[in-house]
Amino acid sequence: MRRYLGLGFGALLILIIALAVYGGREETRLAQAQASLRAQSVGDAAAIYVENCAVCHGAEGEGLGATPPLNSEGLRTADYDTLFKVIARGRYATPMAAWHQDEGGILTDY
Ligand code: HEC
Repeated sequence: MRRYLGLGFGALLILIIALAVYGGREETRLAQAQASLRAQSVGDAAAIYVENCAVCHGAEGEGLGATPPLNSEGLRTADYDTLFKVIARGRYATPMAAWHQDEGGILTDY
């Protein structure tokens, strides 16, 4: 009986230590996963930009001709919703088309 109690206690101790080690590494794992997801998103966005937007806004967002630049301080600090709506819905009666699938475009929420 005492032997089983000792074994059970030992197993519990191992479990507690293993959980503590796993929990300690979780923050690093999360940070790495977020960084990798961000790199993936930025890469995908760059490809979409080059394929669809650069023809008017320039390869570096500098704006071509009458098309406004996108690498401006105003847009850099614009809030997410405003940017999303401009790109999704476009600007009425200008060459800036609606890009979201819901608006007849080709891009998804992603
Ligand atoms: C056919 C040319 C053309 C293409 C392609 C194009 N745009 Fe535009 N875009 C414009 C024009 C012109 C405007 C300015 C509209 C206006 O007068 O308000 C504009 C405006 C914008 C604005 C608002 C700029 C501001 O200062 O208010 C954003 C953001 C934008 N475009 C993003 C994009 C993105 C992202 C893509 C690709 C998915 C894209 N555009 C593709 C022509 C284009």
